[in-house]
Amino acid sequence: MSFAGISFVHMLTSQKRDNLNKIVILNPKGGCGKSTLATNLAACYAQRGPAPAIMDYDPQASTMAWLDRRPAELPAVNGIAAYKKSMHATRSWQLRVPSDTVNLLVDSPASIGHDDLRELTRDSTSILVPVLPSSMDIHAASRCIADLLLIAKIDRRDRKLAVVANRTRKNTKSFGKLMRFLDSLGIPIIAVLRDSQNFVHAAEQGVGLCEMQPSRVKQDVEQIDNVVRWLDAWPERRRDSAAVTSVNRKPKFGRSLLRRAQFGSA
Ligand SMILES: Nc1ncnc2c1ncn2[C@@H]1O[C@H](COP(=O)(O)OP(=O)(O)O)[C@@H](O)[C@H]1O
Ligand SMILES: [Mg+2]
Repeated sequence: MSFAGISFVHMLTSQKRDNLNKIVILNPKGGCGKSTLATNLAACYAQRGPAPAIMDYDPQASTMAWLDRRPAELPAVNGIAAYKKSMHATRSWQLRVPSDTVNLLVDSPASIGHDDLRELTRDSTSILVPVLPSSMDIHAASRCIADLLLIAKIDRRDRKLAVVANRTRKNTKSFGKLMRFLDSLGIPIIAVLRDSQNFVHAAEQGVGLCEMQPSRVKQDVEQIDNVVRWLDAWPERRRDSAAVTSVNRKPKFGRSLLRRAQFGSA
């Protein structure tokens, strides 16, 4: 695949980027909508400016391919083909992000080892887990959330973790199960995306829904906007979590969480 047209990193920074909004989108289940979410969020941030960056860790490189298709006249999105290096080589990932980047989207591959999971989520401000409505997908998503809490040591009280239900009909039995499981962990579902050809067309054209004819995509764009609003509130979420005293910082979940991830008692 050609990467011509992708604005590769030329302005590097060696400063610590405390104010970089690093949004990680992950769920080891392929096809749940990670790249769809990454590209649609990137398009929103690009419209608003400054140019966001997408780091694509997936060797399938569908986000990079979307960038290749992106019309030159649309606001820029910077692409970083992170899958070309091993994740350990990208330990200094901050060095590869253009220095003027405010919002960085990290698109992740279908299967991630424990070390890589820790590496990917390091210094993240927000972690989004897209979930499809089937029982199998919901089960996989709950394992993924358990791994984030227990292996990547994401403290759910930091409120950086959220689920985006994708291609969902709200009133299915499995959706109700997912809601109860997440509710018991205090993890919000911040948007419910319809199963819509709009997403497929946007992907084909290298655009985001927010760049399509508004009358056609209004309902879907509203949901994407919900995600952006939640993401934008990361400084407040971080501040609130810092205010939680260490007294309340003892881990509340252990093996019981993994058991609950099987939905035995969710
Ligand atoms: N809400 C949706 N409605 C219709 N098609 C969707 C939706 N979300 C994703 N898709 C399609 O499903 C396929 C898989 O999505 P993708 O974002 O590539 O998943 P992942 O990156 O998790 O593997 C793509 O063809 C994409 O266009
Ligand atoms: Mg993908």
